[in-house]
Amino acid sequence: MAARITASVYTSHVPAIGAALDSGKSHEPYWQHVFKGYDYGKQWMKDNKPDVIFLVYNDHATAFSLDMIPTFAIGTAASYQPADEGYGARPVPVVQGHPELASHIAQSVIQQDFDLTIVNKMDVDHGLTVPLSLMCGQQDPTTGSWPCPVIPFAVNVVQYPVPSGQRCYNLGKAIRKAVESYDEDLNVHIWGTGGMSHQLQGPRAGLINREWDNAFLDRLIADPAGQAAVPHIDYVREAGSEGIELVMWLIARGAMNDKPPVVKQRFYHVPASNTAVGHLILENSK
Ligand code: DHB
Ligand code: FE
Repeated sequence: MAARITASVYTSHVPAIGAALDSGKSHEPYWQHVFKGYDYGKQWMKDNKPDVIFLVYNDHATAFSLDMIPTFAIGTAASYQPADEGYGARPVPVVQGHPELASHIAQSVIQQDFDLTIVNKMDVDHGLTVPLSLMCGQQDPTTGSWPCPVIPFAVNVVQYPVPSGQRCYNLGKAIRKAVESYDEDLNVHIWGTGGMSHQLQGPRAGLINREWDNAFLDRLIADPAGQAAVPHIDYVREAGSEGIELVMWLIARGAMNDKPPVVKQRFYHVPASNTAVGHLILENSK
């Protein structure tokens, strides 16, 4: 038996969502609109519990700072502490890793000519913990735990030059091959996170582009190869400077099989903090 990827999950990672959860504000009407889009996903996670989550996200100058900026970094550690991003660490459980599968993926993907940085120690910021909270609900930081081990995969979308959508999509295919060559019966989910349209600074701060976001979702589902060919400048012009985070979704999509996926959930909401929230759950067709 080999490991296999059965599904992919996509979601924004707005830090204010984590703050709302951590400060008990999730019942407020403003946040209710956001969280109701994840009710389905929370149940789906329980009904389809993976053995491992391969979580593609971006670090926001937290673990790496601007001193060292790996383009693609794979976490091979046994565990990861939630990072202190200036307000103390989020009160969420430690993230357990999967060093054996992560090392295997590193070996396979590097041999497929993608130069990954191997990370044996790092803290994980809102880019990773907010998606986990959205999909798994709040967990007690000491007595609780996330449902399964997580392999963090950090992508530089903060400091240019950043990788293209095409490279991300091709990397996803290499990750799929790597997982499928791991000699253990594991059900793996791959998550693509960040986005959707947002711009946090400058004269265009607050930019939201509903039409473009929804066209991105349509195309990610039905024509990922076409979406992979879209250049950076389109993301930045249409979806704002931080809209570039969306290239990470192409890694998860590239890791799916070549048949049309089954769309289990699609959600879009504006606003949450300064951003548009998007969320998809895609299952691989047999
Ligand atoms: C916001 C969104 C982000 O993706 C981020 O990393 C920081 C802030 C925001 O909407 O405020
Ligand atoms: Fe971000």
